This record gives sequence, C-alpha cells and structure tokens, in this order.
Amino acid sequence: MKGITVLGSTGSIGVNTLDVITQHPEHYRAVALTAHRNVALLFEQCIAHRPDYAVMSDEAAAEALQQKITAAGVATEVLAGVEGLEKVARLPQCEQVMAAIVGAAGLLPTLAAARAGKRVLLANKEALVMSGHLFMDAVHEHGAELLPIDSEHNAIFQCMPERFSGLENGGVIQILLTGSGGPFRTVAPAALVDVTPDQACAHPNWVMGRKISVDSATMMNKGLELIEACWIFAAPPEKIQIVAHPQSIIHSMVEYIDGSVLAQMGSPDMRIPIAHAMAWPQRISSGVKRLNLFDVARLDFERPDTTRFPCLRLAREVAERGGTAAAILNAANEVAVEAFLAETLRFTDISRVIEATLEAVTAQDAASLEVVLQADGAARETAQQQIARLKAK
Ligand SMILES: NC(=O)c1ccc[n+]([C@@H]2O[C@H](COP(=O)([O-])OP(=O)(O)OC[C@H]3O[C@@H](n4cnc5c(N)ncnc54)[C@H](OP(=O)(O)O)[C@@H]3O)[C@@H](O)[C@H]2O)c1
Repeated sequence: MKGITVLGSTGSIGVNTLDVITQHPEHYRAVALTAHRNVALLFEQCIAHRPDYAVMSDEAAAEALQQKITAAGVATEVLAGVEGLEKVARLPQCEQVMAAIVGAAGLLPTLAAARAGKRVLLANKEALVMSGHLFMDAVHEHGAELLPIDSEHNAIFQCMPERFSGLENGGVIQILLTGSGGPFRTVAPAALVDVTPDQACAHPNWVMGRKISVDSATMMNKGLELIEACWIFAAPPEKIQIVAHPQSIIHSMVEYIDGSVLAQMGSPDMRIPIAHAMAWPQRISSGVKRLNLFDVARLDFERPDTTRFPCLRLAREVAERGGTAAAILNAANEVAVEAFLAETLRFTDISRVIEATLEAVTAQDAASLEVVLQADGAARETAQQQIARLKAK
C-alpha cells in the first residue's frame, strides 16, 4: 500500500488523481489532501478518502473545514497555511506527493517533498520554472524521484532511454514538444483583442483549471513547458522544438541519432500520465477509454506561430537567459492572467505586461530560494504597475 499526499486535491489534476487512487484501493491510499478555499469539495473528499490530514492554505477556510470534520465525526486532522502544506509533503506515511497546486503557491510544499526524498509527481510546472536549479539539486541531493505529470513531459519521459543519463549519452538529438495550439490557433490576430475569459478557457481538447487554460490560449503554457523540459531532461533550449499538433493525440516525441523518432500517444486525458507516474516502472489501468486510431484518422503538425503568440518567444528568450528570468516571467504571467480572468486586462495585453516586466526587473543568478522569491515579489509588483498603466490609458 502506497501513501499519497495530493497537494491541490480539489483542482482538475487533484480530482483526476483521486479518481485513479479510487480505482486501486488495494495499492494506493490518500494520506493527505489539500486545497486553498474550496471547503465543500475538500470536505467531500475527506468523507470519501478518510485521509490522515487535510490542509487548507487559507486560515479561515481551515476553521470552516474543521467545524465540518468535527460535526461529521471524521478522524482527519485539519491543518492550515503553508506550514501545513509543507508538513503533509514530508509525512513518513507518504511515499508519493502529487504536486498539483497551481502557480507559485506550490513551490514551497513541492520543494519540501523533494527535500524529504519523496517520489514527486510534478504537475505544478510553475514551481520548477521558478526554481529549476534549486529544485533539481534538491531532487538529486535528497534521493527524490521526479515523475512528470504534464502529459508532454510524461510522454518525453516514456520515450527516453530507460536509464537516462543525458541527451548525448542516450543518442537523443532533439525533443519534439507538442501542443494543440489552444483555442485561438486559427483565429485572426486582430480578433484576439476582444477575447473573453470564457472563450480563452474553452480548450478544444483538454478540461483544465482556468489559469492553465488561459496559459494554453496565449501559448505561455507551451513556453513554461519548454523551460520545464530543459530542467527535467537537462536539455538546452535549442534541442527542444515546439510542434503544434491540433489533435492532442501525440503527447510529445524524442528524436534519436539513428533517425528514429519515438512518440507517446493516447487520448487527451490526464489520468494516463497520472497512472503512469504513480505506478512507474509498472503499469496500472487509468480508467481511460482506449484510443481508437480509426476514429482519430489523421494527425497534423504545424510550426508554432510566435507572432500570433509572443509568449512563446518570451519564454524561449528566458530559457536561454537563465537565472531568475524564468521566475520573473512566471510571476508576471500569473499576475497578468489573474487580471485577465478578472476582466481588468485584455487578452493581448498579457504578453505586453510580461515583456515590460522582464525589461524592468533585472534577472540575477538564482543562487538561493530567497533570491528566487525576491525576484518573484519584484516581478509581481512591477506587473501590477504595468497593468495599472495600461488601464489608465
Ligand atoms: N489541468 C490539467 O490538465 C493540467 C495538465 C498539466 C499540468 N497542469 C498543472 O497542474 C497544476 C494544477 O492545475 P489544475 O488545472 O489542476 O488547477 P486548478 O484546477 O485551478 O486547481 C488548483 C489547485 O490548487 C489549489 N490552490 C489554488 N491556489 C492555492 C494557493 N494559493 N495555495 C494552496 N493551494 C492553492 C486549489 O485549491 P481550491 O480549489 O481551494 O482553490 C486547487 O486544489 C498547474 O500547475 C498546472 O499548470 C495541469
């Protein structure tokens, strides 16, 4: 029986993770569940899974959950705040930590899991984008295992040589990182100015949380994934080619020196990478409908359009620059996406805010967590100022 802490259990990845756990009660148990403010769903999940711990990062929400748990006579211990999140990421009864909090808020608990030597199932790409060097060092120093949950990185992982020790040693010449192109791949650039949050969140193939859905629409998600892939696979950015693939059936590819190109395919359903990472190196069922290639019929590939999607260009520049540049890009993006979702920033201004923030905040060597968090804070402040300036125009 393997114990799993699910950080962000009330989100899209969290709910899919609990679905896979529920299918294998003899092998997996949720030992801790966490959320930010969704008391009703976390309470429901506590009733269904009876975890040892439940954490609400919001203190008032934790009190509300505690009342419900006490009234229901459930033995789950309720914790609050980031200390609670870090504690459940380190629990001795937990072997695996699903890192599925959205955004920079996931950094400290995900890092705590790596430092405790856990198997980290990494969905929270922002944590790795912000602190790549520190995070990978923590994984290696503390004997943690990093299993990617992003379907693309999970696909690349599956296509890499079994004992991976660097691209060159494995005869890998290129990683082909695929992406659907989001809901606006073929929309006229001029029409993007008036896009609404609901239009941006209507992804053609995937059902996801709102922040990652907007990132997919701007293609910043692919940019963040490029940076993520550089860290996970120790790959320089020039060895990673982004490929638009609108059907989302191939989840990414690895090209070898002998001319072989290995691809991982499957239905666009996150339970596949989740089940893969939980069971690796074994395989377990995920509950996903089998892929029918006759129904799929065709697979298309296109070059990504960096003019229509400037976030792709910005992310590649940041990947090349290194240091805290990625933390600055990530923070500016989070602030801009939040403003867009609150309808106080236009869709096409998201990349403008990020670019202006990257110009205004000087990137440094990401020497420590403090330096990274300082860059994150400075970028958030600058991005807010940029948004205010755009509003005043
Ligand atoms: N969804 C996908 O298919 C997918 C695919 C690949 C990678 N990812 C990555 O996985 C992560 C989660 O994505 P998602 O789509 O599952 O997001 P989501 O549906 O928005 O869920 C986010 C989760 O994080 C919690 N949370 C939000 N703010 C928090 C805070 N400040 N402190 C602590 N917890 C907080 C939420 O709790 P509440 O419910 O209480 O707000 C929820 O449990 C993201 O990094 C995303 O890029 C997602």
